[in-house]
Amino acid sequence: MREPSSVGFEANGVVSPTPIPPQPLLERLKDYGQEDAFALWDELTPDERHSLVKDIESLDLSRIDRIIRCSLRSQGLPTAAIEPVPESSVSTVEDRTQEERERWWKMGLKAISDCKVAVLLLSGGQGTRLGSADPKGCFNIGLPSGKSLFQLQAEKILCVQRLAAQANESSASSVQIHWYIMTSPFTDEATRKFFESHKYFGLEAEQVTFFQQGTIPCVSKDGRFIMETPYRVAKSPDGNGGVYSALKYSKLLEDMASKGIKYIDCYGVDNALVRVADPTFIGYFIDKGVAAAAKVVRKAYPQEKVGVFVRRGKGGPLTVVEYSELDPSLASAVNQATGRLRFCWSNVCLHMFTLDFLNQVANGLEKDSVYHLAEKKIPSIHGYTTGLKLEQFIFDAFPYAPTTALFEVLREEEFAPVKNANGSNYDTPDSAKLLVLRLHTRWVVAAGGFLTHSVPLYATGVEVSPLCSYAGENLEPICRGRTFHAPCEITF
Ligand code: UTP
Repeated sequence: MREPSSVGFEANGVVSPTPIPPQPLLERLKDYGQEDAFALWDELTPDERHSLVKDIESLDLSRIDRIIRCSLRSQGLPTAAIEPVPESSVSTVEDRTQEERERWWKMGLKAISDCKVAVLLLSGGQGTRLGSADPKGCFNIGLPSGKSLFQLQAEKILCVQRLAAQANESSASSVQIHWYIMTSPFTDEATRKFFESHKYFGLEAEQVTFFQQGTIPCVSKDGRFIMETPYRVAKSPDGNGGVYSALKYSKLLEDMASKGIKYIDCYGVDNALVRVADPTFIGYFIDKGVAAAAKVVRKAYPQEKVGVFVRRGKGGPLTVVEYSELDPSLASAVNQATGRLRFCWSNVCLHMFTLDFLNQVANGLEKDSVYHLAEKKIPSIHGYTTGLKLEQFIFDAFPYAPTTALFEVLREEEFAPVKNANGSNYDTPDSAKLLVLRLHTRWVVAAGGFLTHSVPLYATGVEVSPLCSYAGENLEPICRGRTFHAPCEITF
């Protein structure tokens, strides 16, 4: 142990010759039972003491204390019994008519060309399972084009802007979808640099707004801060549901209102098949007149590790139950009338909200203060230690919605998750790549194209640039009668 140093801090942060931690700050920490954060004070260098004081000062201790207490207290409390989502609030693939699909597509394109739609990307996660040093959106999943997830999404926005302009006879430059990108301190700088160095992938720089979500201390099971170093509290992003307070505190809800935005399409960065600003979903949402909606896929099998939409209590609000919370007998129960699992509508983080609802929920969720607790390995002064991360989830908003609707999509068309590193059993860059290649190969064949391939077709395929086609449309002029050697990218 080093000799206790004889320097301390004055209020303005100037190094002064006192050996003790700043008393008012220490007293505040004591009020919340967090004084251990200063336990190693005597061993710190003046610079480290300065960092520790700054770190603690940056925390809103009373808010954090409220969140920790409320979240720990509500853990394990009985919740209202769950009910399946009524059939009437789900638009299933089989029930949708061609006429409806076309009508919704046109309505969506009209809303886009009237600049009423914004896209909100959740990109603040740490991507620990994927294990890449860069933000997940920068990841190249190995498609023939080598495009990153961010580029695929940007090009879908460019494509849908063009489709909206064409459908409504507007000039191409007058249709702009604003893209709000939520980062966190872990992803912010690298994300901004990536966009800058790729010239925003062809989008206008001013149509992209980055904003950061908050972080929250990681705690032990008894609610004490875990120290990442002797002079820094371990913190993690406050979950993708942190988007509501982040939007509020960055004043972006006002920004949206000033731009005339009414509908917000919200999604997670790690889906290689995401249909960003899908006109059909937007049209459906507007037609239904609901406050919040989600795209869902049918649960593949009872034990699949996905959260499902349910109603909490009889006639209660729509919410998501994680697979770990769903009793196995309920997970495998079948609805005799439809032949589907009773709880079959899986959440895939594809949501649509009205701006009015986002305003309402940004205030409501904050007051609630109940966060989900996830047991994780946290980097600490004692090496990796088991602790709790506190998170809100984007779907926590659903119980606040006065009206909701679910829209079934086919997972092979819209869901290619990138969660785990290659070599894992599922949801890897490789599995996502194959899902993209398979879908695009089907589009090309349906448009009259042919494929040759020197590796088996199940392991390869063609990639269609989102600049050419958003969802398989308009490919005939490019593909009919042509032969493509897989793997390759098809572009203009
Ligand atoms: P996940 O929890 O599945 O991914 O988030 P992750 O956090 O990136 O990766 P792991 O769990 O550490 O391996 C789903 C979506 O929510 C976003 C992610 O960026 C992803 O788009 N997210 C997650 C946030 O925006 N903020 C968060 O605090 C957590």
